[in-house]
Amino acid sequence: MPLDQLNHPIIYFDNAATSWPKPAAMMAAMINYNELIGGSPGRSGHQRSLDAGRVILETREALAELFGCDDSLRIAFTKNATEALNIALSGILNPGDHVITSSMEHNSVMRPLRYLESQGVQLSVVSCSGDGRLDTEDVRAAIRPHTRLLVVTHASNVTGTIQPIAELGEIAGRHGILFCVDAAQTAGSLPIHVDEMVIDLLAFSGHKSLFGPQGTGGLYIREGLEKQLRPLMMGGTGSRSEFEGQPDFMPDKFESGTPNTIGLAGLGAGVRFVLTERVETIRSKEEMLTTRFLAGLAVLPGITVYGPPDAANRTSVVSFNITGVSPSEASLELDERFGILCRPGLHCAPAAHRTIGTFSQGTIRFGFSYFNKDEEIDLALEAVRSLAGGDAPH
Ligand code: ALA
Repeated sequence: MPLDQLNHPIIYFDNAATSWPKPAAMMAAMINYNELIGGSPGRSGHQRSLDAGRVILETREALAELFGCDDSLRIAFTKNATEALNIALSGILNPGDHVITSSMEHNSVMRPLRYLESQGVQLSVVSCSGDGRLDTEDVRAAIRPHTRLLVVTHASNVTGTIQPIAELGEIAGRHGILFCVDAAQTAGSLPIHVDEMVIDLLAFSGHKSLFGPQGTGGLYIREGLEKQLRPLMMGGTGSRSEFEGQPDFMPDKFESGTPNTIGLAGLGAGVRFVLTERVETIRSKEEMLTTRFLAGLAVLPGITVYGPPDAANRTSVVSFNITGVSPSEASLELDERFGILCRPGLHCAPAAHRTIGTFSQGTIRFGFSYFNKDEEIDLALEAVRSLAGGDAPH
């Protein structure tokens, strides 16, 4: 098991916030960039600048392969999924437009939408079921003549509930509505194909299941849509330097300023790790860990588990509560007594907690990764049993 700075074993179950550990190749790529490259990409003609540009291109190409996108220039890099979602939502919606979302969204969707609502955008929040599932019929019923956008999380960061993305994409496409998917929790751990799922805008995080460093993420933008999308930031891109106007082409329109090249070197290694291991293999391991944990929780007294009962309908995120113990108290005990690291509370998703009935206390959330092991699940179950006051089995 990994050790903390005092050499105590730890069990890292906060992968829905940020994954840890990362594949060794991630740090190696960053060190390699720092020691042997170090230049600013696309800004100069010298070797180190060209090498930096190649590093970024390779990361873009690996992501395009992962998302089934045939032109890697459709992907603009951002510092996280939140920035990507802000570009997508603020960039496309105008006063008078109608936008549909679900009641399971994270604040990175909800807050930009609430702001836009205050500026004259009409917002419909479709209620999900108690286990977080969005009903496609309810989405269909919310469509209005001027609906411009449907924005939905691929999977909840609170319950792991996987939404029917391909069906939603099909509905949006048939009604001429743009479809934006928040893949912060799923890029790298569930299959994503932007064409087959009829996705127009895909926001992803680099530091979760793509095993990149923090400070990396991006936005896939369907061909042609970049013309309608306003950038959040404007400035130097290294291209068309003779013009004072912002370039209108991908990805430069959305990538002003010197990028996080060292981070993107690490992200490229993370994505190549995912491509080599295969998303299906990663998914199957995470599903096994989740099944094991859910089965173990089911026989413990005083535990309430949220989200779909079956691991097949959720990512490797499990939210639960222990009767008589607050989530923050439980997570402190898990950390201090058992070395188990997790995230309690509202997970920046108050709407999701209202939907599942856990507002305002929230839940204890475990998020498993490809690197977790069965024995860690079993130790965690014993720890939860102990906090719940149950006897150990004989
Ligand atoms: N949204 C991330 C989480 O769920 C940070 O923890």
